[in-house]
Amino acid sequence: MIKTAVYPGSFDPVTNGHLDIIKRACNIFDRLIVAVLVNPNKRPLFGADERVKMLKTVLKGNRNVHVDCFEGLLVDYLRKKKINVVIRGLRAVSDLEYEFQIGHINRSLYPRVETVFLMPSEKYVYLTASIVREVSALGGDMRSFVPGHVARTLKIKFRK
Ligand code: PNS
Repeated sequence: MIKTAVYPGSFDPVTNGHLDIIKRACNIFDRLIVAVLVNPNKRPLFGADERVKMLKTVLKGNRNVHVDCFEGLLVDYLRKKKINVVIRGLRAVSDLEYEFQIGHINRSLYPRVETVFLMPSEKYVYLTASIVREVSALGGDMRSFVPGHVARTLKIKFRK
């Protein structure tokens, strides 16, 4: 039986920390769906289409990784896809409270769901997409935080 997991998130934009989690999830599961949240209430830096496109570009060649987007409740997306495993990255204890909240809410909405927490490499413990957006907006060098394609896309975004 092929075991598939979903790695949901905003990915605004995808960082090297996210890619580290994707790599680790692929060592455990046969197939991984990276699911980008389309949140009409938030104003992300990148639109859902742009976030999906960046992920597809940087994940090109990973045949067992698929990129998709979803709107609404994650559990509804999971039910539709007939998948019950969610991957989330845990960088530090400070992430735990928020992640437990999401994990327990998801479980109460869909009792079959299991959340698997993976630790990224210690290199990425302090890396967040919001830090990436801030440093990039201020003209910082992004090369150690995001893949080259994303660094170039950020540069173009802030040049406008
Ligand atoms: O990358 P993020 O922003 O930490 O990811 C959060 C995400 C997308 C996993 C979470 O906000 C989510 O699943 N949102 C969809 C709406 C939903 O299902 N809400 C109930 C659980 S909080």
